Amino acid sequence: MKMSIKRVIITEFGSPDVLKIVEEKSLPEPKSDEVRIRVMTTSAAFTDTMIRKGKYRDVKDKPPFSPGYDMVGVVDKLGESVTKFKVGQTVADLTVIGAYSEYICLPEDRLVAVPEELDPAEAVSLILSYMTAYQMLNRTAKVQSGQRILVHGAGGAVGTALLQLGKLLDLEMYGTASESKNELVTSLGATHIDYNSEDFIEKVLSMTNGEGVNFVFDAIGGDVLKGSFKVLKPGGTLVSYGFYQSIMGKGGNVPLDFIRLLFWKIWPNKRSATFYSIGSLRNKHEDWFKEDLTELFNLLAQKKIKPTIWKRMPLSEAKRAHELIEQAAVQGKIVLIVSNQT
Ligand SMILES: NC(=O)c1ccc[n+]([C@@H]2O[C@H](COP(=O)([O-])OP(=O)(O)OC[C@H]3O[C@@H](n4cnc5c(N)ncnc54)[C@H](OP(=O)(O)O)[C@@H]3O)[C@@H](O)[C@H]2O)c1
Repeated sequence: MKMSIKRVIITEFGSPDVLKIVEEKSLPEPKSDEVRIRVMTTSAAFTDTMIRKGKYRDVKDKPPFSPGYDMVGVVDKLGESVTKFKVGQTVADLTVIGAYSEYICLPEDRLVAVPEELDPAEAVSLILSYMTAYQMLNRTAKVQSGQRILVHGAGGAVGTALLQLGKLLDLEMYGTASESKNELVTSLGATHIDYNSEDFIEKVLSMTNGEGVNFVFDAIGGDVLKGSFKVLKPGGTLVSYGFYQSIMGKGGNVPLDFIRLLFWKIWPNKRSATFYSIGSLRNKHEDWFKEDLTELFNLLAQKKIKPTIWKRMPLSEAKRAHELIEQAAVQGKIVLIVSNQT
Protein backbone atom coordinates (compact mmCIF):
# COMPACT_ATOMS: atom_id res chain seq x y z
CA MET A 1 0.00 0.00 0.00
CA LYS A 2 1.39 3.36 -1.10
CA MET A 3 1.79 5.80 1.79
CA SER A 4 2.88 8.97 0.01
CA ILE A 5 2.06 10.60 -3.31
CA LYS A 6 3.78 12.86 -5.80
CA ARG A 7 2.02 15.83 -7.39
CA VAL A 8 3.06 18.61 -9.71
CA ILE A 9 1.91 22.01 -8.50
CA ILE A 10 1.92 25.60 -9.74
CA THR A 11 3.73 27.54 -7.01
CA GLU A 12 2.63 30.90 -8.44
CA PHE A 13 1.24 32.05 -11.81
CA GLY A 14 4.05 32.37 -14.36
CA SER A 15 6.47 30.64 -16.74
CA PRO A 16 6.95 26.83 -16.88
CA ASP A 17 9.50 27.27 -14.05
CA VAL A 18 6.63 27.57 -11.56
CA LEU A 19 5.78 23.86 -12.06
CA LYS A 20 7.31 21.93 -9.13
CA ILE A 21 7.11 18.32 -7.95
CA VAL A 22 5.99 17.89 -4.33
CA GLU A 23 5.58 14.79 -2.19
CA GLU A 24 2.74 14.38 0.28
CA LYS A 25 2.85 12.01 3.22
CA SER A 26 -0.67 10.60 2.90
CA LEU A 27 -3.17 9.68 0.19
CA PRO A 28 -6.30 11.85 -0.22
CA GLU A 29 -9.46 10.31 1.32
CA PRO A 30 -12.70 10.25 -0.74
CA LYS A 31 -15.81 11.98 0.65
CA SER A 32 -19.03 9.97 0.80
CA ASP A 33 -20.01 10.60 -2.87
CA GLU A 34 -16.43 10.45 -4.22
CA VAL A 35 -14.09 7.78 -5.51
CA ARG A 36 -10.33 7.87 -5.13
CA ILE A 37 -8.54 7.33 -8.45
CA ARG A 38 -4.98 6.25 -9.15
CA VAL A 39 -4.23 8.47 -12.13
CA MET A 40 -2.61 6.72 -15.11
CA THR A 41 -2.51 9.53 -17.67
CA THR A 42 -3.15 13.23 -17.95
CA SER A 43 -2.05 15.64 -20.64
CA ALA A 44 -0.21 18.85 -21.29
CA ALA A 45 -2.42 21.11 -23.40
CA PHE A 46 -2.33 24.76 -24.42
CA THR A 47 -5.20 25.30 -21.95
CA ASP A 48 -3.01 24.01 -19.07
CA THR A 49 -0.40 26.62 -20.00
CA MET A 50 -3.13 29.32 -19.80
CA ILE A 51 -4.12 28.10 -16.33
CA ARG A 52 -0.45 28.08 -15.28
CA LYS A 53 -0.14 31.73 -16.36
CA GLY A 54 -3.35 32.73 -14.52
CA LYS A 55 -5.00 33.62 -17.86
CA TYR A 56 -7.93 31.19 -17.70
CA ARG A 57 -11.18 32.81 -16.67
CA ASP A 58 -12.93 29.66 -15.43
CA VAL A 59 -10.27 28.80 -12.84
CA LYS A 60 -10.59 31.05 -9.79
CA ASP A 61 -8.18 29.03 -7.56
CA LYS A 62 -5.02 30.73 -6.40
CA PRO A 63 -1.67 28.86 -6.34
CA PRO A 64 -0.45 26.56 -5.01
CA PHE A 65 -2.59 23.97 -6.80
CA SER A 66 -2.11 21.12 -9.27
CA PRO A 67 -3.07 21.77 -12.87
CA GLY A 68 -4.28 18.92 -15.12
CA TYR A 69 -7.36 19.37 -17.33
CA ASP A 70 -8.08 15.69 -17.99
CA MET A 71 -7.28 12.27 -16.62
CA VAL A 72 -7.74 8.53 -17.06
CA GLY A 73 -7.20 6.36 -13.99
CA VAL A 74 -8.24 3.33 -11.99
CA VAL A 75 -10.73 3.44 -9.11
CA ASP A 76 -8.78 2.71 -5.94
CA LYS A 77 -11.24 3.40 -3.09
CA LEU A 78 -14.97 4.14 -2.82
CA GLY A 79 -16.72 6.72 -0.65
CA GLU A 80 -19.52 5.27 1.55
CA SER A 81 -22.44 6.19 -0.72
CA VAL A 82 -20.84 5.37 -4.10
CA THR A 83 -22.89 2.92 -6.17
CA LYS A 84 -21.94 3.45 -9.83
CA PHE A 85 -18.30 2.33 -9.83
CA LYS A 86 -16.20 -0.56 -8.51
CA VAL A 87 -12.61 -0.71 -7.31
CA GLY A 88 -10.38 -1.58 -10.29
CA GLN A 89 -12.60 0.07 -12.92
CA THR A 90 -11.02 2.51 -15.40
CA VAL A 91 -12.62 5.98 -15.43
CA ALA A 92 -12.14 9.38 -17.05
CA ASP A 93 -12.97 13.00 -16.27
CA LEU A 94 -12.43 16.51 -17.56
CA THR A 95 -11.01 17.69 -14.24
CA VAL A 96 -9.99 21.23 -15.42
CA ILE A 97 -7.40 21.29 -12.60
CA GLY A 98 -5.94 18.67 -10.26
CA ALA A 99 -4.93 15.78 -12.53
CA TYR A 100 -1.13 16.32 -12.32
CA SER A 101 -1.16 14.03 -9.28
CA GLU A 102 -0.72 10.31 -8.61
CA TYR A 103 -4.11 10.19 -6.81
CA ILE A 104 -7.23 12.33 -7.04
CA CYS A 105 -10.71 12.14 -5.43
CA LEU A 106 -13.69 13.00 -7.65
CA PRO A 107 -17.49 12.83 -7.29
CA GLU A 108 -18.82 9.66 -8.92
CA ASP A 109 -21.41 11.69 -10.85
CA ARG A 110 -18.69 13.31 -12.96
CA LEU A 111 -16.99 10.13 -14.09
CA VAL A 112 -17.26 8.30 -17.42
CA ALA A 113 -16.33 4.60 -17.66
CA VAL A 114 -13.43 3.81 -20.02
CA PRO A 115 -13.43 0.49 -21.89
CA GLU A 116 -10.67 -1.68 -20.34
CA GLU A 117 -9.00 -2.47 -23.67
CA LEU A 118 -8.14 1.15 -24.51
CA ASP A 119 -4.61 2.54 -24.21
CA PRO A 120 -4.89 5.10 -21.34
CA ALA A 121 -2.68 7.53 -23.31
CA GLU A 122 -4.97 7.42 -26.36
CA ALA A 123 -8.07 7.56 -24.14
CA VAL A 124 -6.90 10.70 -22.30
CA SER A 125 -6.28 12.46 -25.63
CA LEU A 126 -10.02 12.28 -26.31
CA ILE A 127 -11.23 14.08 -23.18
CA LEU A 128 -10.27 17.71 -23.85
CA SER A 129 -9.02 17.88 -27.42
CA TYR A 130 -11.32 15.41 -29.22
CA MET A 131 -14.38 16.41 -27.16
CA THR A 132 -13.85 20.03 -28.15
CA ALA A 133 -13.55 19.00 -31.81
CA TYR A 134 -16.46 16.52 -31.66
CA GLN A 135 -18.89 18.89 -29.95
CA MET A 136 -18.00 21.83 -32.23
CA LEU A 137 -18.62 19.67 -35.30
CA ASN A 138 -21.74 17.87 -34.10
CA ARG A 139 -23.38 20.02 -31.41
CA THR A 140 -22.45 23.57 -32.50
CA ALA A 141 -21.96 23.46 -36.27
CA LYS A 142 -24.03 20.31 -36.91
CA VAL A 143 -21.94 19.67 -40.04
CA GLN A 144 -23.31 17.59 -42.90
CA SER A 145 -21.32 15.16 -45.01
CA GLY A 146 -19.68 16.87 -48.02
CA GLN A 147 -19.55 20.34 -46.42
CA ARG A 148 -16.41 22.44 -46.53
CA ILE A 149 -14.48 23.53 -43.42
CA LEU A 150 -11.41 25.62 -42.58
CA VAL A 151 -9.48 24.68 -39.44
CA HIS A 152 -6.88 27.06 -37.99
CA GLY A 153 -4.02 25.58 -35.94
CA ALA A 154 -4.64 22.36 -37.86
CA GLY A 155 -1.45 20.65 -36.59
CA GLY A 156 -2.29 21.20 -32.90
CA ALA A 157 -4.17 18.95 -30.47
CA VAL A 158 -7.69 20.21 -31.29
CA GLY A 159 -6.80 20.86 -34.95
CA THR A 160 -5.68 17.28 -35.62
CA ALA A 161 -8.79 16.00 -33.84
CA LEU A 162 -11.04 18.22 -36.00
CA LEU A 163 -9.38 16.88 -39.16
CA GLN A 164 -9.64 13.24 -38.11
CA LEU A 165 -13.30 13.55 -37.10
CA GLY A 166 -13.97 15.70 -40.19
CA LYS A 167 -12.59 12.99 -42.44
CA LEU A 168 -14.96 10.45 -40.86
CA LEU A 169 -17.80 12.85 -41.75
CA ASP A 170 -16.53 13.14 -45.32
CA LEU A 171 -15.87 16.88 -45.16
CA GLU A 172 -13.78 18.91 -47.61
CA MET A 173 -11.07 20.33 -45.35
CA TYR A 174 -8.54 23.20 -45.40
CA GLY A 175 -6.09 23.64 -42.52
CA THR A 176 -3.73 26.47 -41.59
CA ALA A 177 -0.47 25.58 -39.85
CA SER A 178 3.22 26.46 -40.13
CA GLU A 179 5.29 24.66 -42.78
CA SER A 180 6.67 22.22 -40.16
CA LYS A 181 3.18 20.69 -39.86
CA ASN A 182 2.49 20.39 -43.61
CA GLU A 183 3.00 16.61 -43.75
CA LEU A 184 0.81 15.97 -40.69
CA VAL A 185 -2.05 18.19 -41.89
CA THR A 186 -1.94 16.67 -45.39
CA SER A 187 -1.83 13.13 -43.99
CA LEU A 188 -5.05 13.85 -42.09
CA GLY A 189 -6.86 14.65 -45.34
CA ALA A 190 -6.80 18.46 -45.45
CA THR A 191 -5.30 20.95 -47.90
CA HIS A 192 -2.49 22.61 -45.95
CA ILE A 193 -2.13 26.41 -45.95
CA ASP A 194 1.10 27.81 -44.52
CA TYR A 195 -0.20 30.90 -42.74
CA ASN A 196 3.31 32.39 -42.55
CA SER A 197 3.86 32.53 -46.31
CA GLU A 198 0.33 32.43 -47.76
CA ASP A 199 -2.78 34.59 -47.35
CA PHE A 200 -5.35 32.06 -46.15
CA ILE A 201 -8.29 34.20 -47.34
CA GLU A 202 -6.97 34.35 -50.92
CA LYS A 203 -5.97 30.70 -50.91
CA VAL A 204 -9.32 29.39 -49.62
CA LEU A 205 -11.33 31.58 -51.98
CA SER A 206 -9.20 30.65 -54.99
CA MET A 207 -9.43 26.93 -54.22
CA THR A 208 -13.21 27.05 -53.80
CA ASN A 209 -14.03 29.06 -56.96
CA GLY A 210 -14.63 32.15 -54.83
CA GLU A 211 -17.36 30.40 -52.83
CA GLY A 212 -15.68 30.01 -49.42
CA VAL A 213 -16.48 27.46 -46.71
CA ASN A 214 -19.47 26.39 -44.63
CA PHE A 215 -17.64 26.57 -41.29
CA VAL A 216 -14.42 27.99 -39.89
CA PHE A 217 -13.03 26.73 -36.54
CA ASP A 218 -10.88 29.51 -35.09
CA ALA A 219 -8.97 29.50 -31.78
CA ILE A 220 -6.43 32.09 -32.96
CA GLY A 221 -8.46 35.34 -32.76
CA GLY A 222 -7.45 38.91 -33.68
CA ASP A 223 -6.75 39.52 -37.39
CA VAL A 224 -7.18 35.81 -38.12
CA LEU A 225 -10.74 35.96 -36.74
CA LYS A 226 -11.61 38.85 -39.09
CA GLY A 227 -10.27 36.84 -42.05
CA SER A 228 -12.19 33.77 -40.94
CA PHE A 229 -15.49 35.62 -41.26
CA LYS A 230 -14.52 36.74 -44.78
CA VAL A 231 -14.09 33.19 -46.11
CA LEU A 232 -17.57 32.03 -45.09
CA LYS A 233 -20.12 31.12 -47.74
CA PRO A 234 -23.60 32.66 -47.40
CA GLY A 235 -25.25 30.54 -44.70
CA GLY A 236 -21.85 29.76 -43.17
CA THR A 237 -20.86 29.98 -39.50
CA LEU A 238 -17.66 30.96 -37.77
CA VAL A 239 -17.05 28.88 -34.64
CA SER A 240 -14.60 30.71 -32.38
CA TYR A 241 -13.17 28.80 -29.41
CA GLY A 242 -9.99 30.51 -28.24
CA PHE A 243 -7.59 33.42 -28.52
CA TYR A 244 -4.15 31.91 -29.07
CA GLN A 245 -2.57 35.11 -30.41
CA SER A 246 -3.61 37.26 -27.51
CA ILE A 247 -2.62 34.64 -24.88
CA MET A 248 0.82 34.36 -26.53
CA GLY A 249 1.17 38.17 -26.51
CA LYS A 250 1.17 38.32 -30.33
CA GLY A 251 -1.63 40.86 -30.76
CA GLY A 252 -5.40 40.62 -30.71
CA ASN A 253 -7.82 41.88 -28.11
CA VAL A 254 -10.18 39.37 -26.50
CA PRO A 255 -13.03 41.75 -25.48
CA LEU A 256 -12.97 43.25 -29.01
CA ASP A 257 -13.12 39.76 -30.54
CA PHE A 258 -16.20 38.99 -28.40
CA ILE A 259 -17.87 42.22 -29.58
CA ARG A 260 -17.08 41.24 -33.19
CA LEU A 261 -18.57 37.79 -32.65
CA LEU A 262 -21.75 39.27 -31.17
CA PHE A 263 -22.06 41.77 -34.01
CA TRP A 264 -21.58 39.07 -36.67
CA LYS A 265 -24.17 36.92 -34.91
CA ILE A 266 -26.89 39.56 -34.98
CA TRP A 267 -25.91 41.39 -38.19
CA PRO A 268 -28.27 40.12 -40.94
CA ASN A 269 -25.77 39.29 -43.68
CA LYS A 270 -26.49 35.56 -44.14
CA ARG A 271 -23.38 34.52 -42.17
CA SER A 272 -23.13 33.89 -38.45
CA ALA A 273 -20.69 33.49 -35.62
CA THR A 274 -20.70 31.71 -32.28
CA PHE A 275 -18.37 30.82 -29.41
CA TYR A 276 -17.84 27.28 -28.13
CA SER A 277 -16.66 26.49 -24.60
CA ILE A 278 -16.31 22.89 -23.41
CA GLY A 279 -16.91 23.93 -19.77
CA SER A 280 -20.04 26.01 -20.46
CA LEU A 281 -21.57 23.29 -22.62
CA ARG A 282 -20.84 20.67 -19.95
CA ASN A 283 -22.48 22.88 -17.29
CA LYS A 284 -25.62 23.07 -19.44
CA HIS A 285 -25.60 19.50 -20.76
CA GLU A 286 -23.76 17.02 -18.53
CA ASP A 287 -25.72 14.32 -20.42
CA TRP A 288 -24.18 15.41 -23.76
CA PHE A 289 -20.72 15.40 -22.18
CA LYS A 290 -21.07 11.77 -21.05
CA GLU A 291 -22.78 10.67 -24.27
CA ASP A 292 -20.16 12.31 -26.51
CA LEU A 293 -17.16 11.05 -24.54
CA THR A 294 -18.60 7.52 -24.53
CA GLU A 295 -19.07 7.79 -28.32
CA LEU A 296 -15.44 8.91 -28.72
CA PHE A 297 -14.25 5.93 -26.61
CA ASN A 298 -16.33 3.69 -28.91
CA LEU A 299 -14.77 5.23 -32.03
CA LEU A 300 -11.32 4.58 -30.53
CA ALA A 301 -12.22 1.00 -29.59
CA GLN A 302 -13.45 0.44 -33.18
CA LYS A 303 -10.14 1.94 -34.44
CA LYS A 304 -12.02 4.62 -36.41
CA ILE A 305 -9.89 7.31 -34.78
CA LYS A 306 -6.23 7.30 -33.69
CA PRO A 307 -5.08 10.33 -31.67
CA THR A 308 -1.87 11.93 -32.94
CA ILE A 309 0.30 11.51 -29.85
CA TRP A 310 3.55 13.37 -30.48
CA LYS A 311 5.20 12.41 -27.19
CA ARG A 312 4.49 10.44 -24.04
CA MET A 313 6.42 12.01 -21.16
CA PRO A 314 6.51 11.19 -17.43
CA LEU A 315 4.57 13.59 -15.17
CA SER A 316 7.93 14.69 -13.73
CA GLU A 317 8.63 16.35 -17.14
CA ALA A 318 5.51 18.56 -17.04
CA LYS A 319 7.68 21.69 -17.15
CA ARG A 320 9.42 20.57 -20.38
CA ALA A 321 6.03 19.61 -21.86
CA HIS A 322 4.66 23.12 -21.18
CA GLU A 323 7.76 24.67 -22.78
CA LEU A 324 7.31 22.58 -25.94
CA ILE A 325 3.65 23.59 -26.23
CA GLU A 326 4.48 27.28 -25.91
CA GLN A 327 7.15 26.89 -28.62
CA ALA A 328 4.44 25.37 -30.93
CA ALA A 329 6.82 22.42 -31.32
CA VAL A 330 4.11 19.83 -30.66
CA GLN A 331 2.42 18.03 -33.54
CA GLY A 332 -0.87 16.82 -32.07
CA LYS A 333 -0.80 15.96 -28.38
CA ILE A 334 1.58 15.47 -25.43
CA VAL A 335 0.40 12.84 -22.95
CA LEU A 336 1.82 12.80 -19.43
CA ILE A 337 2.23 9.31 -17.97
CA VAL A 338 1.51 9.37 -14.24
CA SER A 339 1.57 5.65 -13.49
CA ASN A 340 2.36 2.71 -15.74
CA GLN A 341 0.62 -0.08 -13.85
CA THR A 342 -2.88 -0.91 -15.06
N1 LIG B 1 -13.16 26.77 -26.01
C1 LIG B 1 -12.81 25.55 -25.62
O1 LIG B 1 -13.61 24.83 -25.02
C2 LIG B 1 -11.44 25.06 -25.89
C3 LIG B 1 -11.09 23.72 -25.65
C4 LIG B 1 -9.80 23.29 -25.96
C5 LIG B 1 -8.88 24.19 -26.50
N2 LIG B 1 -9.25 25.48 -26.70
C6 LIG B 1 -8.32 26.46 -27.32
O2 LIG B 1 -7.95 25.97 -28.57
C7 LIG B 1 -6.67 26.45 -28.93
C8 LIG B 1 -5.83 25.31 -29.43
O3 LIG B 1 -5.63 24.37 -28.39
P1 LIG B 1 -4.68 23.13 -28.65
O4 LIG B 1 -4.64 22.33 -27.41
O5 LIG B 1 -5.02 22.49 -29.95
O6 LIG B 1 -3.28 23.92 -28.80
P2 LIG B 1 -1.96 23.48 -29.57
O7 LIG B 1 -1.88 22.00 -29.59
O8 LIG B 1 -0.85 24.26 -28.95
O9 LIG B 1 -2.23 23.98 -31.06
C9 LIG B 1 -2.27 25.32 -31.44
C10 LIG B 1 -1.68 25.39 -32.84
O10 LIG B 1 -1.90 26.64 -33.43
C11 LIG B 1 -0.82 26.86 -34.38
N3 LIG B 1 -0.81 28.30 -34.64
C12 LIG B 1 -0.24 29.31 -33.93
N4 LIG B 1 -0.49 30.51 -34.51
C13 LIG B 1 -1.24 30.25 -35.60
C14 LIG B 1 -1.83 31.08 -36.60
N5 LIG B 1 -1.68 32.41 -36.60
N6 LIG B 1 -2.57 30.48 -37.56
C15 LIG B 1 -2.74 29.15 -37.58
N7 LIG B 1 -2.20 28.30 -36.68
C16 LIG B 1 -1.46 28.86 -35.70
C17 LIG B 1 0.41 26.29 -33.66
O11 LIG B 1 1.39 25.68 -34.47
P3 LIG B 1 2.06 26.28 -35.80
O12 LIG B 1 2.22 27.75 -35.57
O13 LIG B 1 3.39 25.56 -35.92
O14 LIG B 1 1.13 25.93 -36.92
C18 LIG B 1 -0.19 25.13 -32.86
O15 LIG B 1 -0.06 23.89 -33.55
C19 LIG B 1 -6.13 27.18 -27.70
O16 LIG B 1 -6.34 28.56 -27.88
C20 LIG B 1 -7.01 26.65 -26.58
O17 LIG B 1 -7.14 27.57 -25.54
C21 LIG B 1 -10.49 25.93 -26.42
